[in-house]
Order: sequence, then structure tokens, then C-alpha cells
Amino acid sequence: MNSCIIGLQWGDEGKGKVVDVLAEHSDIVVRYSGGANAGHTVVIGEDTFALHLLPSGVVRPGTICVIGNGVVVDPDTLMKEIERLAQKNITLTKRLFISENAHVVLDYHKKEDRLREESLGKNKLGTTIRGVGPCYADKVGRSYALRMADLRNLERLKAQLQTIVEYKNKIFAALYNAEPINADDIFEKCKSYADKLLPFTTDTTEFLHKSIADGKSILFEGAQGSLLDLDHGTFPFVTSSNASSLGMPAGSGVPAKMVDKFFGVGKAYTTRVGSGPFPTEQDNEIGQYIRDKGNEYGTTTGRPRRCGWFDAVAVSYAVTIGSIDCIALMHLDTLTGLKEIKICRAYKINGKKTTFFPANTTKLSRAECIYETVPGWEEDITEVNNFHDLPLNARNYIMLIEEKIGKPITIIGVGPKRSQTIFR
Ligand code: GDP
Ligand code: IMO
Ligand code: MG
Repeated sequence: MNSCIIGLQWGDEGKGKVVDVLAEHSDIVVRYSGGANAGHTVVIGEDTFALHLLPSGVVRPGTICVIGNGVVVDPDTLMKEIERLAQKNITLTKRLFISENAHVVLDYHKKEDRLREESLGKNKLGTTIRGVGPCYADKVGRSYALRMADLRNLERLKAQLQTIVEYKNKIFAALYNAEPINADDIFEKCKSYADKLLPFTTDTTEFLHKSIADGKSILFEGAQGSLLDLDHGTFPFVTSSNASSLGMPAGSGVPAKMVDKFFGVGKAYTTRVGSGPFPTEQDNEIGQYIRDKGNEYGTTTGRPRRCGWFDAVAVSYAVTIGSIDCIALMHLDTLTGLKEIKICRAYKINGKKTTFFPANTTKLSRAECIYETVPGWEEDITEVNNFHDLPLNARNYIMLIEEKIGKPITIIGVGPKRSQTIFR
């Protein structure tokens, strides 16, 4: 069986934990979109792993890990990640495969990301400054792009870098009055990337199709969340890839038809990092309660996450465009202690009621939330591992969400550890 994990909100839903839990039954885990802007946390015993590029299945010793063609690979981050795992005796020999068609994020992409954000001032997008947007822009533009396969021919790479650096330096000088970059320095770094990463680099599309033919089971690990999807999210406050399930086939070379189950991952409330409309945001003591209790600080940037109520309009939209079969609802434990909990069940926009999420940012920023309020619970639920042992109000809350989004919640998170998971 092949499955795919998709974030249903604005990222950080707990995908890393769900992938880790489900990877027990998978032979191969595939990252297929985004780059080191992602931060997926896996907690095993006393160890916490924050993974940015390696699939979260990496912490399971026998699991094969694939970084697909749709990922933009930052070699520095990836090499650091591989080293950090090696220090914990987790090795990747013969079990990491990087697509030769994946594009490479270099220092000038990060520089461009930072300079652009700085120049935008209060209109900035709030990116993670990991160079992801500029790298995808180069991919689409084609003429100044580099892929993993380009590391194979160093002589040609040197010439490619000269052309790219000349072009980038014109932009840096003209738009930002910034220091130039040096092609030789970048080339030296690329030589070490070639050394360390080419042994893992291959045609991953061929590898995945052969594996499927051999009866292997594959788990596709989405990054970011559906509402950050470049085409279907809250543009321009989105990431530069298709973060909904629509990005999975393009980013891996495996058709969506070959996936048996799409798991949507959501939090029992909503968070967002960076700029953009967020109808259920609670910029008040409720938001602060959730932030403190849920430790809602970015895995990649450490920024405090904006927090708010569960938005059934937004999640239903992600479920619809993502062809989601069932839901993993994380962080139920974080809501413990709240007297009342709210769910947004519809928006009122310009006086009209709607239950269909408008990805149009102008409309969305006018949305007034229509809430349903339910009683909370006081009991500690972090050790509960059976749905029926949850307090009645917690069970009712889960069932209310199921009713609003029309899909079963089959996994419930009651804490960051593997063991703090309820299966239904
Ligand atoms: P991802 O990007 O979707 O993988 O999510 P992140 O790792 O960025 O953020 C999720 C955070 O919540 C991490 O710190 C996880 O360890 C933690 N987490 C995951 N599931 C739960 C849960 O059910 N309860 C609590 N309290 N924490 C959780
Ligand atoms: P995971 O996979 C949460 C957000 C950034 C910013 C916008 C654009 O951990 O869920 P980018 O650097 O991609 O150009 O930034 O997207 N963003 C994320 N927010 N989780 C993520 O990944 C994110 N990746 C990007 O905060 O608002
Ligand atoms: Mg994250």
C-alpha cells in the first residue's frame, strides 16, 4: 500500500510525527516538495530530531529515504543533517537516494531571499530565508538553474557558475546595492557537495517505479501545508511549491493514482508563521495559551507561531482539493484546560455566508468567522491511548470536527512522542 501525508493548514501540523508513526509499515519514505524551509520534528525517547530535507522515516533504521525531483536541495543543510544523524549512529549508506533532477539551493539563493525580504519592509512575505523561493524561480526560469546532476561534470559546472554569478551580481548591485558573490568560492563548495552527495544521487523516478513493481510500500511525505500551496493557497503569502497533494505526482514522478490513501494532518487548532490572512487568529491570551502549551515556535526559524481556533472552512478546502481520505488530528492535548473551545464553521464575507474557503487573499482578509462554541476539558490526556478513555468533551470535539469536514479522524495526537498517539 502507498500513502501520502499532506498538511491541511499553514504547515507545522505535526507531519513529522505522523510520518514517523506510519513509516513503521513502509519500506520507502519520499520527500517530494519544498526544501529546507520545512522543519519536521520526530521525538524518539529522549532524542528530538528536527529534519529539514531528509524524510522523517530516516530515524527508522531499515527505511529507504528518497529526496525526489520536486525538492530544492540545500547541500549544506543536507550534509549537516547527515552528519548529525551519524553522531547518533544513524547511517544512510545504501538507503538514501537523491534525485539527479532536484534543483540545488546555493548561497546566492539565500542571499537573494534575504535581500528581497529586507527590501520589502513591512510588506515582506515572512519567508524562512532558506533560498527556497529564489531557487524555484530559477528552476522555472531555466537559464540560470543548477540540478544535482550538474555536480557530475565539474568542468562544465565551473562555466555554468560563471554565467550564473555574473547574472546574479548584476541583480544584487542594481536592485539591492549589495556585495557581489564570487564564482570560485561557490565552485569550491560545489566540489565538496559533489564528493559527499553524488554517491546518493540517481534517477529516483526509475527507482520508485521499480520499487512499486517489486511490491514495496511507499509513504510520501508532504512538506508545508495545503494553504501554503503556490497555486491554491493564500497567494502571495504562500511557499513556492505545490504544498497540497497536487504537488506529489510532479515532485516524485509517481502518479497520484498509485497512492492508496491520502492522510491529511491537521492540528486541533490553527497556527501560521509569516505574513498573510488568518481568519481564526487569536492575537490575545487564548493565542498565547496555545503558543505556550503547544510550544508553538518554528522548528526551522524559531519564530513564534501565530495561533488561533480550528478553521473547518479552511481544512475542508484542503481536504477537497487534496482528495484526502482520512485525518490525523494532532495536539489535542494542547487544548486541555480551556473552558470553551471554538470551531469556525463558516465565513461571512461582504455580508454573504460561505463555507467554501476563498484562496483569494483580498476576500479572505474580509472574512468574519461564524463560530460554534463547545465546552473544554480539564483532565490530562497525554497518557491516553484509547479514544474511549478521552474525556467526553474531548471526544465530542473530535466528532464535531469529523462532522464539519466530512472525513474520519483516524489518528489523534496527545503529545509529541510516538507513544502519545491514539489510533481509531
Ligand atoms: P511538521 O512541520 O508538520 O512536521 O510539524 P513541526 O515539527 O514543525 O511542529 C510540530 C510540533 O508539535 C513538533 O514540536 C512536534 O514534536 C510536536 N507535536 C506533534 N504532535 C503533537 C501532539 O499531538 N501534541 C503535542 N503537544 N505536540 C505534538
Ligand atoms: P513544514 O514542512 C510552516 C511559510 C513561511 C512563510 C511562507 C513562505 O515544517 O510544515 P518560504 O521560505 O517557503 O518562501 O516562506 O511559507 N513556510 C512554512 N510555515 N511550516 C513550513 O514547513 C513552512 N515552510 C514555509 O513561514 O510564511
Ligand atoms: Mg514544521
